[in-house]
Amino acid sequence: MNVSEAVATRTSCRAYLPTPVPAATVRAVLDAARQSPSGGNLQPWRVYALAGPSLAGLVALVRSRMPANPLGEAPVEYDIYPGHLWEPFRSRRFKCGEDLYATIGVKREDKLARLLQFARNFEFFGAPVGLLFCLDRRLGPPQWSDVGMYMQTVMLLARGHGLDTCAQEAWSIWHRTVGEYLALPPELMLFSGMALGYRDESAPINRLRTERAPLEEVAELRGF
Ligand SMILES: Cc1cc2nc3c(=O)[nH]c(=O)nc-3n(C[C@H](O)[C@H](O)[C@H](O)COP(=O)(O)O)c2cc1C
Repeated sequence: MNVSEAVATRTSCRAYLPTPVPAATVRAVLDAARQSPSGGNLQPWRVYALAGPSLAGLVALVRSRMPANPLGEAPVEYDIYPGHLWEPFRSRRFKCGEDLYATIGVKREDKLARLLQFARNFEFFGAPVGLLFCLDRRLGPPQWSDVGMYMQTVMLLARGHGLDTCAQEAWSIWHRTVGEYLALPPELMLFSGMALGYRDESAPINRLRTERAPLEEVAELRGF
């Protein structure tokens, strides 16, 4: 698979086959992704890969805490979105949610069904591998973008191994539990989770294909 194919075929996968991913494959992906660029070559990423009992343990722990804390652990370490999104971001976010729930026939008013689907985040959508991306909390926005680059490289390399992914900022609402479970040193904070595994082609939720704003809206070519 070349880079363009990897980019074109990467979509967020929210249902997986139970097929395990060999440790050697996970290691190869995380290892090759180290080649990601970062400002000043700081390489601020730190990733934890969980499978088997390690994955099941975290999922069970979060599940046990969810009834008492359905919205996760406040205060959050960072806001996933600004409090009130404005255009064009607001509409894009809205459409993404609507389209996602439409694939599984969940109506807007059905708050419970939506909540249950959201909660699937905390099972890594059934993926056999859960990745948790962290960084030193003293670092700033430029280093957050570096971690994003590492994550994207992981997602593209995964495609090369026939694997799919879903980045999951949602995990940040369980930052305390994740920190406790992974025994994170105090300077490390969780940025995002990521599901990794083999796509369940038959799952309706995986039919979602999100739109993109046209090139003219996001890029300007000058002087050509
Ligand atoms: C950093 C990051 C965090 C994300 N967090 C979540 C998440 O918590 N749950 C989820 O279902 N999707 C999550 N997504 C997936 C986005 O919704 C998805 O990338 C976007 O809608 C575009 O769709 P596509 O990935 O299928 O192209 C995240 C994506 C990124 C890049």
